[in-house]
Amino acid sequence: MKAAMHDVYGDASVVTIRDAAVPEPAAGEVLIRVHAAGLDRGVWHLLTGTPLMARLALGLRTPRQKMLGLDVAGVVERVGAGVTEFAPGDRVFGGGTGTFAEFAIAKPKALAPMPAGLSFEQAAASPVSGLTALQALTKAGPVSGKSVLIIGAGSGVGSFAIQLAKAQGAIVTAVVSPGKIDFVKRLGADHVIDYTVDDLGDGSHDVILDIAGIRPIDELRGVLAPRGTVVFVGGEGGGPMLNGMQRQIGAGLFGPRGQKFVTLMGTTNTADLLTLSQYLEAGTVIPAVEQRYPLEQAADAIRYIGQGHATGKTVITVSE
Ligand SMILES: NC(=O)c1ccc[n+]([C@@H]2O[C@H](COP(=O)([O-])OP(=O)(O)OC[C@H]3O[C@@H](n4cnc5c(N)ncnc54)[C@H](OP(=O)(O)O)[C@@H]3O)[C@@H](O)[C@H]2O)c1
Repeated sequence: MKAAMHDVYGDASVVTIRDAAVPEPAAGEVLIRVHAAGLDRGVWHLLTGTPLMARLALGLRTPRQKMLGLDVAGVVERVGAGVTEFAPGDRVFGGGTGTFAEFAIAKPKALAPMPAGLSFEQAAASPVSGLTALQALTKAGPVSGKSVLIIGAGSGVGSFAIQLAKAQGAIVTAVVSPGKIDFVKRLGADHVIDYTVDDLGDGSHDVILDIAGIRPIDELRGVLAPRGTVVFVGGEGGGPMLNGMQRQIGAGLFGPRGQKFVTLMGTTNTADLLTLSQYLEAGTVIPAVEQRYPLEQAADAIRYIGQGHATGKTVITVSE
């Protein structure tokens, strides 16, 4: 089979498309014939081995996992011993290993049936970014009737966060660069702030989803309501060891009482995939697939994400 791989840490130039053996599902695993694979910033981190602290888990000098890709939508080809949740022929979406390939391995606990009415590309775009947005809103508490500020709203995560927050009854303010203003309005944002010319306003937001930009904690405090909540989701840059996470350490320790600062560590799990499916099947959330690349051009897709200004979701199409 064809697969996108890397032997060393680096940028998109170290990605190659190679022939590889079709993996055999071990006990408790599922082999999926991949139709489409979603791409997000997490793939870039695994490729580059950043932040450096992550190499303790990924492999100190070279990556232990050479095959790229996390999100997947496709059809179950075979199941390993003990798998009862899925059977050959089932259409599934979720998280796997080495999904930028014709076949990929996944665990049932990170999969769910494909949402009805979605294309493979739309389903593949949804797991990491959709679940991150869903879990961030859950951490923020009920948002109905509340003012939610989404910094980095034009990103993959942001494109889901706008729609999910609106579906849950929030009033959404999206923070983006000028080229994404129309995009986030189409997704349902009530207000838009162009971060290249405007500041984030006053302390009126009940919730801030901090997805990009790594703004100073004091600035976030200033735009957050006195009893509001910041959910730290992401942010590139910062120091090489911890990147954006450096800023979060101690954020909740100082400053006015009442404001909450929480950090999200997202997971891909069946229960949340099923919850996301309800929004997807109802059409209240539509994956914003803006870029499509064939598997052979996986390096170009990763280069695009690596530039840090992606709009909505990028998908690698493996087969129709
Ligand atoms: N905590 C978790 O479990 C979790 C899970 C998934 C992702 N993440 C993190 O969440 C972040 C977003 O991931 P993604 O895959 O959605 O990213 P993405 O699709 O690659 O999008 C990156 C976005 O960042 C925006 N951006 C860059 N600089 C900005 C700034 N100064 N202010 C506001 N927006 C800015 C860009 O928009 P402009 O062109 O408008 O600048 C672009 O839309 C990443 O840091 C990722 O590592 C965390």
